[in-house]
Amino acid sequence: MDMKDFAAKVVLTPMGPGRDEEFAEMLDEFRAAGEGGVYRGDFAVAWQGYSAFYSLLSQMQQGGFPRPEIVPMEAYFIESEGRILGELYLRRRLSPHLEQIGGHIGFKVRPSCRNRGVATAALHIALKKLGEMGIEKALVTCNSTNVASARVIEKCGGVRNADASLPEGEERRYWIETKS
Ligand SMILES: CC(C)(COP(=O)(O)OP(=O)(O)OC[C@H]1O[C@@H](n2cnc3c(N)ncnc32)[C@H](O)[C@@H]1OP(=O)(O)O)[C@@H](O)C(=O)NCCC(=O)NCCS
Repeated sequence: MDMKDFAAKVVLTPMGPGRDEEFAEMLDEFRAAGEGGVYRGDFAVAWQGYSAFYSLLSQMQQGGFPRPEIVPMEAYFIESEGRILGELYLRRRLSPHLEQIGGHIGFKVRPSCRNRGVATAALHIALKKLGEMGIEKALVTCNSTNVASARVIEKCGGVRNADASLPEGEERRYWIETKS
């Protein structure tokens, strides 16, 4: 596929079963780039394989799992023409923790597909989805050292609010109007 077509053809596909090989291939790419840390904490189960990961995300969709404070979360693959380019998570509401770090939307793009507008296109689609759910403003956060993520959020209309100081570092917090 022509790389410049990626962004124009980006869709969000709800994660479903049976994508084991493609998922493993993407994880190999993150690991080879030294970015294994994108799957950490609860999400480290991804390293056990897609079926374990998909099982976790399916249960997280209802909320309250793996801990009571976990809000319902929808998981999507960012795709172009059926190829997995990354992942996006959507939350309809915030917890006190997500107000500081995480927000309504989380995303990642595999290293080989970056700087072609993929995350920006995916975030646009996610904002539209939240708008359709009646959420007028979305909170999107990123670590203050994550220049690319901050740029994506700002390209999508993010207005910076007070940063959060956390053990993980300074977290930039942006609000984005979902209908803008
Ligand atoms: C952040 C991330 C999702 C961006 O994905 P992407 O598909 O490359 O994003 P886009 O192509 O839509 O936009 C990236 C922008 O950042 C800019 N950028 C990237 N690296 C940069 C750097 N080191 N310095 C300055 N700008 C940078 C790009 O030039 C582009 O801006 P532009 O369109 O004005 O040129 C991707 O880098 C990633 O997955 N990182 C690891 C996981 C992560 O950080 N997720 C976000 C957590 S909040």
